[in-house]
Amino acid sequence: TTDGTDGQKRRAGERAAEAVEDGDVVGLGTGSTAAHAIRAIGDAVDAGLDVRGVPTSFDARRLARDAGIPLRSLNEVDGIDLAIDGADRIDRDCTAIKGGGAAHAREKVVDAAADRFVVVADPSKVVDTLSHPVPVEVLPDAYTAVERAVAALDGEPTLRRAEAKDGPVITDNGNLVLDCAFGRIDDPTGLARRLSPVPGVVEHGLFVGLVDTAYVGTDDGVKRLE
Ligand code: A5P
Repeated sequence: TTDGTDGQKRRAGERAAEAVEDGDVVGLGTGSTAAHAIRAIGDAVDAGLDVRGVPTSFDARRLARDAGIPLRSLNEVDGIDLAIDGADRIDRDCTAIKGGGAAHAREKVVDAAADRFVVVADPSKVVDTLSHPVPVEVLPDAYTAVERAVAALDGEPTLRRAEAKDGPVITDNGNLVLDCAFGRIDDPTGLARRLSPVPGVVEHGLFVGLVDTAYVGTDDGVKRLE
């Protein structure tokens, strides 16, 4: 049920929020699971916790502001102690695909800057082998060139369309998103290395070697992957 999944997400988010310590700079992720962590951190701030949050998106910033978390941009802090973020898929080596909310470029910058990066997810995100399409944020002027480069890597790119607009999704950075299907991704490290240098690619949603721990909420608790 929807409530069941939301409960799983809430347990994961709240567990991750418990790892925040007094004085921490915290990366605040995007999506419905990270939102639970943001609300829990807001409750802890109300109870006296001293933190600064670095949001990964417009929505994360808005939610964190409403939750009463003091905010900074990444350029205003010396580093990030802990980042908490969702994922669209994660395998048992903690390689993740992100960007279902088109926020993966700023998410990767913030999550990679963190001493510790924790993914929060429900069990539907955990897979043995990644095969979900990889979101690729691209400069608007480059999207057909990137489509050709993705096709040359045996990927099938689809320009992401907006739901409440006749047109494409525009990211918080003013760019477009290509959802790139590669079938089964047996070598995520290799694919990440091939996608990153394509001219016009701002960032892709493969997160390789970045996730330290994943908290996966279940119906009665939280499982940990690392
Ligand atoms: C945003 O671009 C994504 O990377 C999200 O973190 C991801 O889509 C997870 O969202 P949910 O927690 O809502 O599934």
